[in-house]
Amino acid sequence: MNTNDAKERIDDLRSEIKRHDELYHRQATPEISDFEYDRLKRELADLEVANPGLGSEASPSMSVGDDRASGFASYTHRLPMQSLDNTYSKDEFFAFVERVEKGLEVEKAAFLIEPKIDGVAVSVTYTNGKLERAITRGNGVEGDDIMANALFIEELPRELQGNHMPDTIEIRGEIYMLNEEFDRINAARKQAGLEAFMNPRSLAAGTVKMLDRSEAAKRKLNVVLYGLGFCQPRLVDSQGEFQELLGKWGVPLVEKFWKARGANEAWAAIEELDALREQFAYPTDGAVIKTDLLDHQAELGATSKAPRWAIAYKFAAEQAETTLEGITVQVGRTGALTPVAELKPVLLAGTTVSRATLHNQEEMARKDVRVGDSVIVEKAGEIIPAVVRVVLEKRPSDSGPYEFPQKCPECSTTVKKVEGEVALRCLNPNCPAQVRGRLEHFASRQCMDIEGLGIAVVQQLVERGLVSTIADIYKLNFEDLVELEKFAEKSARNLLQAIERSKSNELWRLLHGLGIPQVGAAAAKDLAKAFRSVSALREADLDTLVAIDGVGEKTALGIIAYFEDTSNASVIDQLFALGMNPLAPEKPAAEDAILVGKTFVITGTLPSMKRDQAKALIESKGGKVSGSVSKKTDYLLAGESAGSKLAKAEKLGVEVISEEDLLEMLS
Ligand code: IVH
Repeated sequence: MNTNDAKERIDDLRSEIKRHDELYHRQATPEISDFEYDRLKRELADLEVANPGLGSEASPSMSVGDDRASGFASYTHRLPMQSLDNTYSKDEFFAFVERVEKGLEVEKAAFLIEPKIDGVAVSVTYTNGKLERAITRGNGVEGDDIMANALFIEELPRELQGNHMPDTIEIRGEIYMLNEEFDRINAARKQAGLEAFMNPRSLAAGTVKMLDRSEAAKRKLNVVLYGLGFCQPRLVDSQGEFQELLGKWGVPLVEKFWKARGANEAWAAIEELDALREQFAYPTDGAVIKTDLLDHQAELGATSKAPRWAIAYKFAAEQAETTLEGITVQVGRTGALTPVAELKPVLLAGTTVSRATLHNQEEMARKDVRVGDSVIVEKAGEIIPAVVRVVLEKRPSDSGPYEFPQKCPECSTTVKKVEGEVALRCLNPNCPAQVRGRLEHFASRQCMDIEGLGIAVVQQLVERGLVSTIADIYKLNFEDLVELEKFAEKSARNLLQAIERSKSNELWRLLHGLGIPQVGAAAAKDLAKAFRSVSALREADLDTLVAIDGVGEKTALGIIAYFEDTSNASVIDQLFALGMNPLAPEKPAAEDAILVGKTFVITGTLPSMKRDQAKALIESKGGKVSGSVSKKTDYLLAGESAGSKLAKAEKLGVEVISEEDLLEMLS
């Protein structure tokens, strides 16, 4: 990614994450799953590391969020409340252990593995054993005093049991809500015609922040304590000892914790926890692995955000069971028919899911999915939830196999299976669903980003016969738009402006928007960089295309077929006649342009590359390729049976290199 793209993506990510932080911490109404959120944060942190010039000090990648709200008194934590680094990957977990052991110079470090409770972080202070205060994490330094609502939590000890209490101790833990309580509250809200809460975690977060105490009192919350904050005098030497002490004090503890030495034992504990956690009273979304000895913790220290001695390993794939209420079949922009499960809404990985993909006809037949079935839905790494299996024991006796439509549900054309593909396709290019799909894709944020041209507007434009190809978008006028539903003069003018502006978008946006098979945003960027214009791409042959980084043979063939199609060619000609003038990418960024100013001549048969491929490779790194050797030639790339050019180069003292030398130069 060049610096400009990186900067743009970093800016986008920072504002997206800030928005989700606000939704999660302050509004307690998250829109995306934790998995998705963590993925965004990870992408941002990686980009910031790769682009140190772009300032990450105040970035949301470095913060723990901020839950402070108005109406609460703030308190400063005696010891800051940090967050944890997290991972979904076994390899990264092993890398964490390696770092710890290297840092401590021990062969196998001692760890404690605890369930990670999915609730709201809290810090409770006990003075001489008496409960004094409960504070949210806030921004990590200072949090909100939620004592009034915390006092509704029966489980929270008002006094610690036993003798020899520390003068002051901050104990960290998690306030959470049981699933059954969550269901009870949501059922009541539904009856009252109110919107349901997203998940138990956000409902717990919303409840501790209620200013109306009488309302807060009506909702049952629970608490678990697990962590040592500030403490005077020092009481224990390890996290394991601290857990034991908490137990003696009569504090609600995590259900189970494991002691382990080294990575393998720790991993075994994580797996055991994953198998057990369903039976726990509270929702868990992972394991927290802590270096056991406090001296070791101090030695390893912390970054500005998280300790180096602990990590959260999160269990990503979440499954839930629900009823399949119906099956609809969607037609995408390429004509592919996708069966979609219409589900009884169910809570899954932090979000309520009411639709899931059934992939395609073959998958459905394989799983024998029927309307009325109980199904297991999974939301794993990917964003789209999917039906993974049917609970056959619960199948209603009167159900029948699902008959996949043999006609397009939109245009009634008989659907066909294309060789080498699983999906059935509607092969009518004028199918309204495909027409809409192509237009929506073109205007979408990942492509031409035409603000105001969303699904609903596209639908109207197509229905009214105003637009059927992407070129038609650029023929729209004020009169066409002002007539649309929910449009007025201002919105019509704004949309026209957005359309006009899109003409000078970056080239990759246009290439992505064309909907060339196999060409997603990443390939579009690679192509834009290599060809720098639609006409150059249009003329490229197979060899030239496959020589581009990120373009395989399948993509190359897709590109060629796309431009050979006469209706595509005509749409593209129209686009340019209507003033499309995309912005070519800057010349390769410094790190990519190692061959800038260098002129090559290629001769003979190269061992693995065709000459065209070598040419494209050299050009993609900023070099030039010329046809004849002269004093200006920097390198002669020579293969087998090189003839007169080789002789000339030797005579002129031009350096002669092999394919291997070239690849070495570029590595
Ligand atoms: S230890 C300095 N242990 O998960 C690190 N945290 O995603 C202190 N959490 O901020 C955290 N269960 O709010 C720890 N057994 C556990 C936990 C746990 C849940 C929360 C906590 C933390 C967040 C990180």
